[in-house]
Amino acid sequence: MKSIVPLLLAFVISTLGVDLPPEIEACKISDPNFHKCLISSAQKAFTVFANGNKDLGVPSLDPLHLDVVLVEPQPGSINIDQKYTDVVIEGMSTGVVNDFMFNLNDCTIWLNHTLKHLKSSANYEIKGQLLLLPVDAKGHLLATSEFFNVYIKATCEKFKEQDTEYIRVLTSKVKMDARNLQFDFGVLINGNPQLDNDLHKVINDNPNDFFEVMRPACEALWNTAIFKLMNTVFAQIPLHKLFKD
Ligand SMILES: *[C@@H]1O[C@H](CO)[C@@H](O)[C@H](O)[C@H]1NC(C)=O
Repeated sequence: MKSIVPLLLAFVISTLGVDLPPEIEACKISDPNFHKCLISSAQKAFTVFANGNKDLGVPSLDPLHLDVVLVEPQPGSINIDQKYTDVVIEGMSTGVVNDFMFNLNDCTIWLNHTLKHLKSSANYEIKGQLLLLPVDAKGHLLATSEFFNVYIKATCEKFKEQDTEYIRVLTSKVKMDARNLQFDFGVLINGNPQLDNDLHKVINDNPNDFFEVMRPACEALWNTAIFKLMNTVFAQIPLHKLFKD
């Protein structure tokens, strides 16, 4: 029963079709400057959606809240289970969109986005091998990054509802590159302050290596947020309102 209400709601919203917020320009597909227009519209969207959007039911982007993100152990050296809850990311709206493209022929979307001074916090549970040490810890994480480049590639499909065409994002992949990352996990190894200190020293002295350990978690966090956002927006704004012919 629980799932019926949101389904009905989604149906009612999608049959009406929401407009693109007026501040965001709908780009003209036949315009030679279509690609340029997309980049500036994407740039605008991050500021327009910064505080969320009621018509679209989009929650605030800056700060961005995520309930839970699970990261499976990776084959090879990153053999840890990670769970993050109450995730808050600050700085999403102040980035620079380097590239954004929407190819309507094969339904692919990509976004290249650079963020500066990004701040994240979350409650974490980590279990497994972290830099060769056995870790089984819960706590609060604070992470900051001075430079963050995020590249997202998504595939989509077009679908029709009541003769109106929409798109739905099917898959999305995130690649990121970060510099000057700092992680503050608090105590990671309980009952052994010496070993805990050593682990923190390794993390602090090798931020780039440690980012490789954290990369799956960072990419999964981002992917979860972007996938949700794109589908929320695209499921409600019909294609003919997103783009002009
Ligand atoms: C993203 O944009 C930056 C800056 O323009 C560029 O250096 C980088 O190579 C781009 N990344 C991808 C994957 O296109």
